[in-house]
Amino acid sequence: MHGVEFRHVSYGLGARSRILDEFSLTVGAGETCALVGASGAGKTTVLKLVNRLVLPDAGDVRVLGRDTREWDPIRLRRSVGYVIQDVGLFPHLTVADNIAVVPRLEGWPEDRVAGRVRELLELIDLAPEMYTSRWPDELSGGQRQRVGVARALAVDPPVLLMDEPFGALDPITRRQLQVEFRRIQARVAKCVILVTHDMAEALALADRIGVLDEGRLIWCGTPQAIADADHPRVRALVESLVPASQVRLKPDTTGGPAKADTTGGPAKADTTGGPAEADTLGSPAKAGHYGSA
Ligand SMILES: Nc1ncnc2c1ncn2[C@@H]1O[C@H](COP(=O)(O)OP(=O)(O)OP(=O)(O)O)[C@@H](O)[C@H]1O
Ligand SMILES: [Mg+2]
Repeated sequence: MHGVEFRHVSYGLGARSRILDEFSLTVGAGETCALVGASGAGKTTVLKLVNRLVLPDAGDVRVLGRDTREWDPIRLRRSVGYVIQDVGLFPHLTVADNIAVVPRLEGWPEDRVAGRVRELLELIDLAPEMYTSRWPDELSGGQRQRVGVARALAVDPPVLLMDEPFGALDPITRRQLQVEFRRIQARVAKCVILVTHDMAEALALADRIGVLDEGRLIWCGTPQAIADADHPRVRALVESLVPASQVRLKPDTTGGPAKADTTGGPAKADTTGGPAEADTLGSPAKAGHYGSA
């Protein structure tokens, strides 16, 4: 299994103060799963479980087929890129040196590092000759975020975690980066878990969306299916976050599920090849197991 699998994961002290409760989810290679939910729902905690910043109290988390308890934490973190909102670039390092941090920790020779930095700058659409030597405070917010993505991808980790990666940006830059994310993900095909407050962003970027509510996965399915979800809390979330007029579902000519598109960009091809997952959960207490791979 080349992705991430959560199996009945609970985390947090005591049954009454569970931060995550019986959380089960599988995200496969090449798949982007967005996690949405209110502040405090447990989204960041889900990401921390993946790179073993925390260990589950019950259940298990498997990354690339191995339980996080069995991973060497350093090796695990090299296999998992992490992009965090606003945080991240070392201010005293140039763009190139920021991107090169993990490759150098891995002992790459300098010519390989330089080649990788150039390749990544091209991937994120920043001309290497202009940006290699810049300092983070000489970049726009959107450019900084892109460099953060490049840094997370530097040693080509199979898994990419993104926690509100575009949250601090103005709407236009945000949309540009969303389009860019789709382009990059189409090329690198990582297992991506993307946390966002923004349902429109989830609809635009994700193959599947998981809705967290007080530590429970109350719904998980395709962007198309969420428009028809009948779970009342999911409906309330969809309606509060996306005015109906903004959600445009594009038919998918491949016969797969249609892809919700709020960016105005081209419809995203369904790369999972799987059937539409219109599965909703009757009860929040019974968060089930959603596999894609
Ligand atoms: N180290 C900690 N100790 C105790 N409680 C914590 C700790 N970290 C997080 N929590 C609690 O766990 C719950 C989930 O936190 P988490 O950061 O996962 O939420 P979130 O969904 O990412 O929220 P936001 O959208 O605001 O970032 C919150 O109620 C939070 O207060
Ligand atoms: Mg958070």
